[in-house]
Amino acid sequence: MAEETRETERMGEPDEPGEERQRLGVSCTRGPGEMRAVVLSAFGGLGKVRVSSRRAVPVPRQGEVKIRVKACGLNFLDLMVRQGNIDNPPKTPLVPGFECSGIVEAMGPDTTGFEIGERVMAFVNYGAWAEVVCAPLDFVYPVPDAMTFPEAAAFLVSFVAAYMMLFEIANVQEGMTVLVHSAGGAVGQAVAQLCSSVPRVTVFGTASPSKHEAIKDSVTFLFDRNTDYVQEIKKISPEGVDVVLDCLCGEDTGKGLALLKPLGTYILYGSANMVTGETRSFFSLAKSWWQVEKVNPMKLYEENKIIAGFSLLNLLFRQGRADRVQSVVRKLLSLYREKKIRPVVDSLWALEEVKEAMQRIHDRGNIGKLILDVEKSPTPLMANDSTETSEAGEDEDEDEQDIDSDSKERVPFIQ
Ligand SMILES: NC(=O)c1ccc[n+]([C@@H]2O[C@H](COP(=O)([O-])OP(=O)(O)OC[C@H]3O[C@@H](n4cnc5c(N)ncnc54)[C@H](OP(=O)(O)O)[C@@H]3O)[C@@H](O)[C@H]2O)c1
Repeated sequence: MAEETRETERMGEPDEPGEERQRLGVSCTRGPGEMRAVVLSAFGGLGKVRVSSRRAVPVPRQGEVKIRVKACGLNFLDLMVRQGNIDNPPKTPLVPGFECSGIVEAMGPDTTGFEIGERVMAFVNYGAWAEVVCAPLDFVYPVPDAMTFPEAAAFLVSFVAAYMMLFEIANVQEGMTVLVHSAGGAVGQAVAQLCSSVPRVTVFGTASPSKHEAIKDSVTFLFDRNTDYVQEIKKISPEGVDVVLDCLCGEDTGKGLALLKPLGTYILYGSANMVTGETRSFFSLAKSWWQVEKVNPMKLYEENKIIAGFSLLNLLFRQGRADRVQSVVRKLLSLYREKKIRPVVDSLWALEEVKEAMQRIHDRGNIGKLILDVEKSPTPLMANDSTETSEAGEDEDEDEQDIDSDSKERVPFIQ
């Protein structure tokens, strides 16, 4: 009977991009108090991700902002979460996603700070890939007029991480040299732009050869990630580099430390190399652990080297340092207004295309950030792939439990 009522309510409810979705054969009906969201049903491969149109719409609590989401950022970390390749993984099913942009729809009780209708972007501790998100005030920021929703969804994680590593940990200054891996990725492009804001900073980047033509002007020297980049850098800068930003914890850690000049800083901020396929590989995990340089503090002392680690999400969500991040966002927004930085958006995807979007990162195809555009309709070819209508068996059942608790577009590279 309850099911019948819900069905009747849904039939009578027009759904804004609904007609187009129905034309494409995608289920999008939802009852009052329900919304569309990407759901990770269990850790694993792409098959564990789908769209549910029946997630409960969250209600803002005191101190929270309710956001009608327009765009969500897809980070490499989201692939690692999907695989369960992270420390202390949360329970599934869950809605993934750590950043989004949208419009303020409501404020929690006794909460002020944003106007209804204001354009905002936010860090979210899981749950960003949904039509509606509630985030604490400390994690929400106004979006400048000139910034589009996709750009805003591409801004926070990559630029704050890049800024804090370059300027708050490594203290990058005029004339320094920086090595960054995956230079074409979202963080890599943020690093390149931020380094350009300081005079005479040399950036050595590594990337897959397919990206070289598109990104060659964003860094000073670009190397194929498969070549012996250490030798190449030493030919250009025999004394090494001042800063190594390493997101490939393993073999590259030793190479990075060896490349550091005296008083240079090595920062580990990721372990992308542990992702070797669609699902988690214990072999690659063990290999990375084995290859990683075991650091001897005595050696650091003798060689005058600094070694650091950085995790933005831990800083925000586990270590309570949103205040520190706020001051960084203010500086970044100034740089944006001065036109010194601008987020690079690789492509826009409908929520229903989330698997294809993730596959693009697995395939090392992206330049900048992939964005899930909440209002975009899936392309006909992809329409049936990640929707709840195409999922059978266990995932459908999980969807029931959830109730209670247009063509691909490339945005040109921006200098
Ligand atoms: N610690 C932090 O606070 C923080 C914050 C944000 C991101 N991160 C880390 O920074 C790195 C970049 O993140 P992002 O979100 O900007 O992603 P991204 O660089 O846009 O990610 C995609 C790129 O990573 C490279 N890559 C390296 N290993 C890969 C693998 N095993 N499989 C597929 N691609 C691989 C590929 O570029 P090439 O083939 O050209 O190398 C690929 O195009 C990730 O390790 C991420 O976890 C850390």
